[in-house]
Amino acid sequence: MRTWAPGRVNLIGEHTDYTGGLTLPMAIQLGTTVEYEPSSEPLIRLESDQDPREAWVRLPVDGLRPSADASWVRFVAAVAAQVGPAHGGRGRVRSTVPLGAGLSSSAALEVALALALGFRGSPLELALACQRAEHAAIGVPSGIMDQLASVAGRAGHALLMDCSSLATTPVPFPEGYEVVALDSGVRRRLASSAYAERRSECRAAEAVIGPLRFASPEDLTGLADPLLRRRARHVITENARVEEAAAALGRGDTGAFGQLMDASHASLSSDFGVSTPVLDELASWLRSQPGVAGARLTGAGFGGCVVALAESGGVDRWFPERRHPAWRLVPAGGATSAP
Ligand code: GLA
Repeated sequence: MRTWAPGRVNLIGEHTDYTGGLTLPMAIQLGTTVEYEPSSEPLIRLESDQDPREAWVRLPVDGLRPSADASWVRFVAAVAAQVGPAHGGRGRVRSTVPLGAGLSSSAALEVALALALGFRGSPLELALACQRAEHAAIGVPSGIMDQLASVAGRAGHALLMDCSSLATTPVPFPEGYEVVALDSGVRRRLASSAYAERRSECRAAEAVIGPLRFASPEDLTGLADPLLRRRARHVITENARVEEAAAALGRGDTGAFGQLMDASHASLSSDFGVSTPVLDELASWLRSQPGVAGARLTGAGFGGCVVALAESGGVDRWFPERRHPAWRLVPAGGATSAP
C-alpha cells in the first residue's frame, strides 16, 4: 500500500478556522508518502527519511499522555489511536514538505499515515480524525484547515473553506501565477503557547459579542477590553477579506487579491500580534520584487514562512537571489492511496 498526502499553504484567512470562519488554503505539490505492508504482529514499525529514530508503536494504543516530547513517533501513535488498526505492519515515510516551516508537514504525515493504516470513512471524517490526532500528539488546539486542505485539495485550485459547515469550494488558481514561500528560519517554541492564548482570547471576545463568524465591525464597540477588541477585529475583518479574495481570485483579479494579502498581514501584525520583525521584513522584501501581487505571513505566525502571489515569469528572475530557503508552490490535488 502506498499513500500520499500534500502539505498546504494558506493564501489568506489566518487564525479564522478555530472560530468557524473562512479561510483560503491550497494543497501543494510537496507531500508525504507512506509505503506500508500490514503484518500479523501487533506492532507498527516505520522508518522516516527525516528522522533517524524508527517509530515503534505497540497496538492497541489507548490514548496518549501529554508530553513535552513532540517527536514524530507521537504522531504515529496518535494516528494509530484514531484509526485503530487490527494489525500492525512495517513501512517507510518520505516527505518533501519542509519541517516546521508552516507548510503543514504534520497534517501531511497524519493524513498519509491514517490512509496507510486503513482508515475507513469519508474525506471529512479523515480530516477530523487527523485533527484529533494532532491535538493528542502535540497538545496544540489547532483548527481544521491543515488536515482538510490536505484531504480535499484540488489540482489547479485553491479551496475556499467554511470552517462552520466544513464545506470546501474549489476556486480556480490563475494561470501564469504561483505562490512563493520564504522560510524565515525562525522556529519558536512559544508558538504553541501563544496559539492557545490567541484561541482563548477569541473565546473571551465571543463570550461578550457572540460568534465572531457572524459579528460585524460595529459589534466591536461592545468589547471594552482593547486587547480583545483588536483580536476580534482581526478575525472579523479577515473573514471579510477571505470572501473578497475568493471572489477576486475566481475572476483572475490578482491585483485585488494581492492587496488583500497585504492587508491580512498588516492585521495579523498589528491587531492579532502574531508577526515578528523578520516576517514583516521578508513580506515587504517580497512585495518589492517584480511581478509580486502581495505577500503575507502564512500559518500560525511567530516564525515559519512568508508567502507571495507572484507571476511565474518574474519569479525566474529574482527567486535564486534570496538567502532564505524558498519554495515555488503550485496547487495540487488531495491525498491519494493505492494498493
Ligand atoms: C496553524 C493551525 C491552523 C490555523 C493556522 C492559523 O496552522 O494548524 O489550524 O489555525 O495556524 O490560521
